[in-house]
Amino acid sequence: MKDRDTGARAFMHAGQEWTLEQQGQGFRVSNADGSAVGIGFADIGGALAGVFDLQTRRRVEAQLQEADIEESVQNDVQFLQGDLTSSVGALWPPDRASFKRIKGIYTPGVVRNQENLTEIVNVVNEAQLIFNGEISRVSLRAVVDINFLEQIRKNETVKPLVEAVIPLSGTQPAFENAALVYFGLNHSTRQPIQKEMERYFVNLEAASSHRTLTPQEIKQRVARKGYEIRVLAKADITEESIDQVAQLYERFGWTREEVSMILNNQNNIIGVAIKDNAIVSAGIAEMAKIPIGSDNLRIAEITEAATLDEHAKNGLYTAVSSGLLEELFQRSQRGEILGGELDLAYGECNGNALGVLKTAHIQGRAFAFYAGFSLGFSNSGVLRQHVPIAGLPIETEYNDLFPAFITRAKLNEIYS
Ligand SMILES: CC(C)(COP(=O)(O)OP(=O)(O)OC[C@H]1O[C@@H](n2cnc3c(N)ncnc32)[C@H](O)[C@@H]1OP(=O)(O)O)[C@@H](O)C(=O)NCCC(=O)NCCS
Repeated sequence: MKDRDTGARAFMHAGQEWTLEQQGQGFRVSNADGSAVGIGFADIGGALAGVFDLQTRRRVEAQLQEADIEESVQNDVQFLQGDLTSSVGALWPPDRASFKRIKGIYTPGVVRNQENLTEIVNVVNEAQLIFNGEISRVSLRAVVDINFLEQIRKNETVKPLVEAVIPLSGTQPAFENAALVYFGLNHSTRQPIQKEMERYFVNLEAASSHRTLTPQEIKQRVARKGYEIRVLAKADITEESIDQVAQLYERFGWTREEVSMILNNQNNIIGVAIKDNAIVSAGIAEMAKIPIGSDNLRIAEITEAATLDEHAKNGLYTAVSSGLLEELFQRSQRGEILGGELDLAYGECNGNALGVLKTAHIQGRAFAFYAGFSLGFSNSGVLRQHVPIAGLPIETEYNDLFPAFITRAKLNEIYS
């Protein structure tokens, strides 16, 4: 329920009434007697993270979102965009995000000098001060001038913070001579295990030596096996399709309510494979427009890959995600990626999921590992212990992810 004068919202959890209210640029959540208070400097997720575990936060966000949807139907106001079903998270200043992370994207402009870099390094340093059970990783992204990268490469303190480098040549003129750089640091208790990393690099090599396929070859392969690949239109998002995707996405811990939110979010494109009227594989392209100074970087993350076990290894996820790239290409041509053309599509591929790594390579995405290597960052290309992903068992709590990307120019080359 929302207080019309103050905008504060009330919700129930564990038999207690809680209040969520705007505080300056951020949000504050508290229980009735004020004994539990969470503050988020940029978004609601950050405030909820201060007082609830992840499962509870998801439930509360869904509850708030549902109330907002009801209200927006009545009053025609904007939906609350819960950040927990989105992987972009806070921009700048960074904020707490799921899985004990602080996340952010540097929006003031392209990083070209020491002053800009210091702002980023300061966030990492501040995050370290609160590294404890609640926060154990900081993950920041920034668009960095390629020439300035050379100075970062020589800086022994900052270079180890560079986790991945994605060159942005082939996107738009403003970023032609820049790269999207992931800066990251983990607490000592949240580190990759050497033998697991070795296995992931074997996977990366196996995936990279696979043959690449054209979109036509990818489609034909699954069509021959009787699968239909499509992008869900608004009219396709029915109770039945929500049920089917919810079943597929159980492995990621999403509830049916959250899946419904994901499917109904207009910034998401949902790709599916269908057999006998049932969705057997799905993936999502999550679009975002990130202001970088006076320009905008339009990105789409290919995420939430899932195929039912009995249909695995038939090329379905390759076809679903290639269908998403094709849809992104077409919308981009019409200037319909959040009001413009797409700059970059990328996925953060689980090093432990050979199928996902192979898919990225087969469809023409490049691994940040190789791109970073050629720019002198030989230890980059892996987001260390980033998030947990359901799949083959591992010894660490979180997964190590390998970003794989495709620029606007390459997308146009493959899909036009
Ligand atoms: C990862 C996943 C989505 C792959 O789905 P899929 O439909 O089987 O993928 P594809 O068939 O398109 O796989 C692409 C290639 O990898 C191969 N492959 C798929 N899974 C594989 C595995 N476990 N081991 C080895 N190769 C595998 C496929 O055979 C195919 O290669 P080919 O073209 O030579 O035949 C599916 O296994 C899954 O749902 N896993 C659990 C969730 C998960 O890990 N999601 C990823 C989040 S990053």
